[in-house]
Amino acid sequence: MERILTGDRPTGPLHLGHYVGSLRNRVKLQNEYDTFIIVADIQALTTHWENPELIRNNVREVTLDNLAAGLNPEKTSIFVQSMVPQIAELTVLFGLYTTVSRLKHNPTIKTEAKLYGFTDMTYGFLGYPVSQAADILFCRANLIPVGEDQLPHVEVTRFVARRFNELYGDVFPEPKALVSEISRLIGLDGNAKMSKSLGNAIYLKDDPKEIKKKVMSAVTDPARIHKTDPGHPDICTIFAYHKAFNKVEIPEIEDSCKKGTIGCVSCKKNLIKKLEEILSPMRERRAEFDKPGLIEDILIAGTDKAVEAGKETMALVREAMHTNYWKER
Ligand code: TRP
Repeated sequence: MERILTGDRPTGPLHLGHYVGSLRNRVKLQNEYDTFIIVADIQALTTHWENPELIRNNVREVTLDNLAAGLNPEKTSIFVQSMVPQIAELTVLFGLYTTVSRLKHNPTIKTEAKLYGFTDMTYGFLGYPVSQAADILFCRANLIPVGEDQLPHVEVTRFVARRFNELYGDVFPEPKALVSEISRLIGLDGNAKMSKSLGNAIYLKDDPKEIKKKVMSAVTDPARIHKTDPGHPDICTIFAYHKAFNKVEIPEIEDSCKKGTIGCVSCKKNLIKKLEEILSPMRERRAEFDKPGLIEDILIAGTDKAVEAGKETMALVREAMHTNYWKER
């Protein structure tokens, strides 16, 4: 069976942008692939090193979000990055032949550095794509379901794998990204990206009242003052959400918006109904998993599986790099 590896930084709760970008694919593909989900606490600390307590609290939160979204812990291994030492080992080894200039040209790094106001980047932040390559390659994954902002990191991963194989011998597959049809969701304020730091997100754990409030106050086409004004769906936030969550009704909504026969209020109410169809089963699953000790047990079992895979990979790596001085004792 081929392997999937993907995951999230535990900096806060997951939102609909995560769902559309990657979670939806994870849930669908977990039956066809041996699936590993990483809760990337160390990567989160590359931007939040001054706040380890926040990251610790969100490890549980993000795990619960993944389970609520429909990942089945019997099939899928969810694990904590910092508890798999082979990832740290590989990060050091991959850094041997990955140049600083390759890392400096990474567009996602540039965007994030701006966002966090990093003028003098730390070694760990600039290098986190190398660590992400280790996240993916420690279990020799083949497929990485991600949003499009992650593509530069997947490129680094593919370089790291290819170059390792050239230098030392064939150990790693060159994994491929799987980007969903709609891989980026715009924010409630019309901003290009739904994100926690921009405060424009609908969270998977939001209750029906919050969802209603958020959707009803979302930005629509500013040219539509009266219900009968012709609308411009391509610039409307709500229409973008219909595209992501209500594909079947798209032609109808587009037509009636353009003609001015449907108002924004009823269009929003329709969306809320569609969102509830996705989010209400998530609430039920969340309640099932949100029991004392259960999340911890799931993470421990997933991490044990990850460490097992990491040990197998490290044995091959040590052999290839001639660092197998003696057998593991
Ligand atoms: N960089 C990803 C994000 O910010 C999280 C992540 C860490 C990841 N390691 C990964 C994603 C490995 C895919 C594969 O969302």
